[in-house]
Amino acid sequence: MKALRIRGGTPLEGVVKASGAKNAITKMLVASLICDKQCVFTNVPNIEEVDTTLHLLKQLGMVYTWDRPNGVLTVQTKELSSRHVVQRFSGANRIPILLLGALLGRTNEEVIVPIVGGCKIGKRPIDFHIKALEKLGAEFELVDNGDTKLYKAHAPKGLIGTTIDLPFPSVGATENAIFAAIRAKGKTTITNAAVEPEVFDIIHFLQKLGVRIALHKDRTIVIKESSTFYPIKHHVITDRIETASLAMAALSTGGSVYVKGAEQASLTSFLGALRDIGVHFIVHDDGIEFTKTEKLRGGLHIETDVHPGFLTDWQQPFVVLLTQAEGHCVIHETLYENRFGYTDTLKEMGADLQLFSECLGPTQCRFHGHNFMHSLSIKGPTPLRGRMIAIPDLRAGFAYVMAALIADDESIITNLHYLDRGYENIDGKLQMLGAEIERITLEDPAHQNLQDLLSRRTTVLSN
Ligand code: EPZ
Repeated sequence: MKALRIRGGTPLEGVVKASGAKNAITKMLVASLICDKQCVFTNVPNIEEVDTTLHLLKQLGMVYTWDRPNGVLTVQTKELSSRHVVQRFSGANRIPILLLGALLGRTNEEVIVPIVGGCKIGKRPIDFHIKALEKLGAEFELVDNGDTKLYKAHAPKGLIGTTIDLPFPSVGATENAIFAAIRAKGKTTITNAAVEPEVFDIIHFLQKLGVRIALHKDRTIVIKESSTFYPIKHHVITDRIETASLAMAALSTGGSVYVKGAEQASLTSFLGALRDIGVHFIVHDDGIEFTKTEKLRGGLHIETDVHPGFLTDWQQPFVVLLTQAEGHCVIHETLYENRFGYTDTLKEMGADLQLFSECLGPTQCRFHGHNFMHSLSIKGPTPLRGRMIAIPDLRAGFAYVMAALIADDESIITNLHYLDRGYENIDGKLQMLGAEIERITLEDPAHQNLQDLLSRRTTVLSN
């Protein structure tokens, strides 16, 4: 088993480049299916999520070449060779569900996709997606064979433009509705749409491709039936989650970092929260410099929200950062009902955290009265102890890496596939900042004692 061996306690210092955004490129790859034109993407992150998405799309007829060291990916789907996404991709990520819109736009024949996977952070239903596509004229049959569940979908009369009023500005449902609307007859208006920077990037990509799409005021996106497409080149935006994660890793160890590629416009609420806890940063033309902060201030209250609010994917590393701030802070998670599961391990490492089912803060969110533990109080600063940790999901994974970098002894972190889904060369980047981190194979005789030792220490701590 692969693991990260981390000895914490060293302040991270230096310059690092953030990669392209996972949640933009993977969706643009799906969107490229709507036509037969060649798309060249630059700034493509070399992460497992892109690999998984490409394997899936290859099976549908996409041909691609990927120059990984230079981040250049060229794709083209001249013809669909299949409309059936095979079951083995069901648990891999959230991409299969997004294929419904793109495939229904490209073909009039029946489309089959398995039920989606992704991180285990809440129920993550797909009802908004299905209702939006039904409104455009698609018909669905859910086939439940026990272990395997899949959707059969087709649009017998073709997709027809309509108005889709999303009950919540869901990122995935917005993207799915856009992809389906591109070839639907007439005009489609999506109201209460998501306007995350990744959605903007996808809209910009689609506009270059020839799609007649416009963003109106009040979260309204209008797509007109499009039939002329062009070969294009598109530079993927910087990953705002990785950017913030690298900044928080350095700041929480008492260090400083210059994150090249960081884009202020997509980080406004994160930067605002940093300033509230006493962090100074300098915005340059080519990135953002986060400077060393002797004492992080507590007294912060954050509610995660849709853009331009505080992104839920910043929440986990921010909690770790706040364990090093002086005073009391509160985070109210309003996007996912079950996104604090990772905090038990942080408590075992020494963090002073308490979960509440109430909405702590001015907003009564969708989870009010449902008994979901979705508010967290953090008291700091607390020293953290190293331990053996199995990563449960992508963003929690980075939070654990941060906690291990703060602890002044050793940690072993396993389940690295979650981390590798979304962070390019994360151990290499942290090493460049001076972190004592190495990727090891636990079965290697040189490391066997380590596993025994750390699992014993875990038992003692949790007793
Ligand atoms: C995207 O997920 C991102 N994933 C998530 O990042 C991110 O946390 C989320 O948007 C919010 O910004 C990808 O882009 C691959 P949603 P998505 O639909 O599209 C509810 C990461 O770590 N909902 O905006 O799946 C849902 O349960 C990942 O990179 C319904 O109820 O998120 C949630 O409470 C984790 N029914 C809320 O809406 C639906 O049909 C927002 O979800 C769809 C969503």
